[in-house]
Amino acid sequence: MKTPRHYSVAMVIVAITGLSACTEPETGGRNGEQLFLKYCASCHKSSGGGNFLKGVPSAKHTRLTEKQILQLIYYGRTHSRMPTFPRMKLDEAKMIAGYVSNQLRRN
Ligand code: HEC
Repeated sequence: MKTPRHYSVAMVIVAITGLSACTEPETGGRNGEQLFLKYCASCHKSSGGGNFLKGVPSAKHTRLTEKQILQLIYYGRTHSRMPTFPRMKLDEAKMIAGYVSNQLRRN
């Protein structure tokens, strides 16, 4: 009997891509809010309101655009007292910037 070898190869590829499609959006089970709590809330508070006494401005009332927030947290800003996050992934930075501009800012 002829074995349709290319068939099984195709099945394996489908299985692999199918699997990665399932695991991909989770990003370790963290969304923008959880990432904000992890990286930012220690200074800016979980509300995003900042800490006046420590000289931390409000993140939620910032006039920066989503793109500028992304640049600030991913690339940093010169002469800033805010740290950069060398271990943060670009995807995470995007989620956080989106969370700050689209969710925190509305509240
Ligand atoms: C170690 C404390 C600290 C952490 C952690 C921190 N920030 Fe900041 N952040 C600051 C300080 C201080 C400033 C003031 C900016 C400066 O000195 O340039 C600032 C400024 C900002 C601003 C600009 C406000 C404005 O309008 O100029 C935004 C937006 C912001 N932070 C968002 C974030 C986000 C999002 C995170 C998490 C990824 C984060 N910060 C983590 C201390 C912190």
